[in-house]
Amino acid sequence: KAGNLAPTPPMGWNTWNTFQTKIDEPLLKGMVDAYVSSGMRDAGYQYFVLDDGWMTMERDKNGDLVPDPKKFPNGMKAFADYVHSKGLKFGIYNCAGNKTCAGYPGSRGHEYQDARLYASFGVDFLKYDWCNTDSLNAREAYITMSQALKASGRFIVFSLCEWGNHQPWLWAGGVGELYRTTGDITASFDKNKNYGSWSALSVMSIVDKQVNIAKYNGPNHWNDPDMLEVGNGMSFNEDKAHFSLWCMLAAPLAAGNDLRHMSPQTQSILTNKEAIAIDQDVLGIAATRVYQVDSLEIWAKPLANNEVAICFLNRSAVAKDVVYKWQEHAISNEAGKLSVDFAKTTYKLHDVWTKKDIGTTKKEFKQTLAAHSVVMLRLVKF
Ligand code: DGJ
Repeated sequence: KAGNLAPTPPMGWNTWNTFQTKIDEPLLKGMVDAYVSSGMRDAGYQYFVLDDGWMTMERDKNGDLVPDPKKFPNGMKAFADYVHSKGLKFGIYNCAGNKTCAGYPGSRGHEYQDARLYASFGVDFLKYDWCNTDSLNAREAYITMSQALKASGRFIVFSLCEWGNHQPWLWAGGVGELYRTTGDITASFDKNKNYGSWSALSVMSIVDKQVNIAKYNGPNHWNDPDMLEVGNGMSFNEDKAHFSLWCMLAAPLAAGNDLRHMSPQTQSILTNKEAIAIDQDVLGIAATRVYQVDSLEIWAKPLANNEVAICFLNRSAVAKDVVYKWQEHAISNEAGKLSVDFAKTTYKLHDVWTKKDIGTTKKEFKQTLAAHSVVMLRLVKF
């Protein structure tokens, strides 16, 4: 329904993190098939999104964008039909500037024409980037495309990608359903990677940038800390920590790994239904950091039915012993009016990764957390 296209954070898969512009129909059809056979669709992932690189370098004589005929010999409608035939939704990419980041034609001055073209393909989701925008006003440029999509005749989720520089959390509600809050992620736990003119951000540096904007998150206006790097080179524990924190943040979950060649570990992370249920909780409230001493942190997220998600995080490169005497603590989540005094209320504890019940908050939590790892718990009133 209009205005309610993303009541919970959108879940999907996007070409960019693994393939950049090296995409074509045979590769992507294989990916669609793997999306289904790997259990991703059944775990709740829905969108199949083409990022930059799907079109030719020039518009045609009518000014229309052209799907690259070498990459998509059957056209884009045929590929969208294939995606839809598998019960998935189809997403595409363009940019508010004159050119996309990879140099393909951008939408500036063609917003309504492009929106109509996407609708004719059967597009359900548009990611809209921010390269080559010169003096454009970000809010106005995104509003223009938003209105073009609304006039296109199809319901299209609008994913803003101006990297958080114009504080979209303050104005993107009603313009689009999700908005990037940072520059690009890379598959690194805590070290940014420098590429000269720009630097790609580690998982931890992105997490730190979410702390002060948690309160802006909510249904149909999601803070987007960028796509997932699960399965793209970090360790099993690092991948679990990355995925857990995205779920705690109620973030959009866009997998970015090669679904055709997933390890069982990667698959177990991406399809963990208990973790996903925390991400998709109907309240849509982002976790806040309620405890931070040296490299140990605790994040808390209120859930429906007075349940709570708690994530213990060890950011250091060595294992740490954690002892947390629940009953000595009261926590609150300023993004969601959560206020729990563990001296007064007892909860049962369920570990989302081991899938075991581990007692109650009457006893202290005592575990050794491996380097770069988390323990994520669902708390249910006793
Ligand atoms: C920058 C975006 O932040 C990335 O996610 C990706 O869409 C690239 N542009 C594509 O050029």
